[in-house]
Amino acid sequence: MKLSHLLLSSLSVHGICAQLQEITNFGSNPSKAKMFIYIPADLPPNPAILVGVHYCTGTARGYYNGSPYKRLSDEKKFLVIYPESPNSGGCWDVSSRATLRRDGGADSNAIANMVRYAVDRYKADPARVYVIGESSGGMMASILAAAYPDLFAAVINYSGVACGCFFTDSVAGWNSNCSGGRMNHLTPEQWAGWVYDAYPGYNGTRPRMQIYHGSVDTTIAPANYNYSIAQWTTVFGYPGVPVEESADTPEGGYTTQVFGERLTGVYAKGVGHGVPVHGDEDMKFFGL
Ligand SMILES: *[C@@H]1O[C@H](CO)[C@@H](O)[C@H](O)[C@H]1NC(C)=O
Ligand SMILES: *[C@@H]1O[C@H](CO)[C@@H](O)[C@H](O)[C@H]1NC(C)=O
Ligand SMILES: *[C@@H]1O[C@H](CO)[C@@H](O)[C@H](O)[C@H]1NC(C)=O
Ligand SMILES: *[C@@H]1O[C@H](CO)[C@@H](O)[C@H](O)[C@H]1NC(C)=O
Repeated sequence: MKLSHLLLSSLSVHGICAQLQEITNFGSNPSKAKMFIYIPADLPPNPAILVGVHYCTGTARGYYNGSPYKRLSDEKKFLVIYPESPNSGGCWDVSSRATLRRDGGADSNAIANMVRYAVDRYKADPARVYVIGESSGGMMASILAAAYPDLFAAVINYSGVACGCFFTDSVAGWNSNCSGGRMNHLTPEQWAGWVYDAYPGYNGTRPRMQIYHGSVDTTIAPANYNYSIAQWTTVFGYPGVPVEESADTPEGGYTTQVFGERLTGVYAKGVGHGVPVHGDEDMKFFGL
C-alpha cells in the first residue's frame, strides 16, 4: 500500500476526511441491503444518529447528494446512516410478512442491525437515534417505528404509508389498494394491529412521529395521511382529531396538526408526491 493510501484511510477513520463510506460487516443481513455512513469531521463523543432512507429508484449516494442531511450533519455533528435497497427498482421491502416483523430477517431488520452496529462501533447515544424517509423510505420509517420502538427516539416520514398498508405477502410488492387510498374499510383498531403485530407484547416508550403528506399526491393517495393518523392515534391512545392545529405552518398552505405529545401531522395543500424536504424543521423536531 502506498503511503498516500495509508494516510487517507487513517484520516477517514478519524473522520477528518469526511465522506460517504460503505460498511460491509454490520451484522446479520439476509436481505443484502447495503450500509453507508457519513461521519462528519470533529465528531463529538456520544453522537446522535440519523438514518436517512431513500425513495424508490434511489440509492444511498443519491440520497446523500440530494438531501440536506450531510450539510446538517457537518453543522450539528451527528452520524448519518444511508441504507441502500437491495431490491430491483430500488424500492424497500415494505410488503412482506418478514419485513413487517421485528427481527424477521428482511430489509427492516437489516436497517435495525445497521443502527445496532453503529451505536456500538461509534459509541453513539442510543437515546438519540432518528429516522427520516421519503416515499418508500417513509413507508420503511413507519415499519421501523412499529417493529423497533426501542431503537428509535423519533421518526419523520414524507409521503409514506401506515405500517402494514402495503402488505402483499411478497417482497417489495406494490399494493395498489393502499397507494390508491382504497383501504377505508379498515378500522383504527385494525390499523393499530399492524403496529402491535410488528413487535408483540411491546409496552415501552414509542418514538415521537411526524408525518408529512401532500393533498394532491397521485402516487400515494392523500387518504394515506388519514390511515397513518388513525394508526398512530390509536397506538398512542390519542383522540382521532387534532388537539391543536396551525394553518400555514411551517409554510403557506401547510397545516400542522398536533394529535398529542408524540404525534404531529403536516398536510400540505396543493403538494404532490414527494413533499419537499424541510431539513431545518426536521432538526427542530428531532432536537438536533
Ligand atoms: C409515516 O410514518 C409513520 C411512522 O413512522 C407511519 O406509521 C405512518 O403511517 C406513515 N404514514 C405516512 C402517511 O407518512
Ligand atoms: C384490492 O382490493 C380488491 C377488492 O377488495 C381485492 O380483491 C384485492 O385482492 C386487493 N389487492 C390487494 C393487493 O390487496
Ligand atoms: C410490560 O411488559 C413487561 C415485559 O413483558 C411486563 O413484565 C410488564 O408487566 C408489562 N407492563 C405493563 C404495564 O403491561
Ligand atoms: C381525512 O380525514 C379528514 C377528517 O376526518 C376528512 O375531512 C378528509 O376528507 C379525509 N381525507 C381523505 C382523503 O379521505
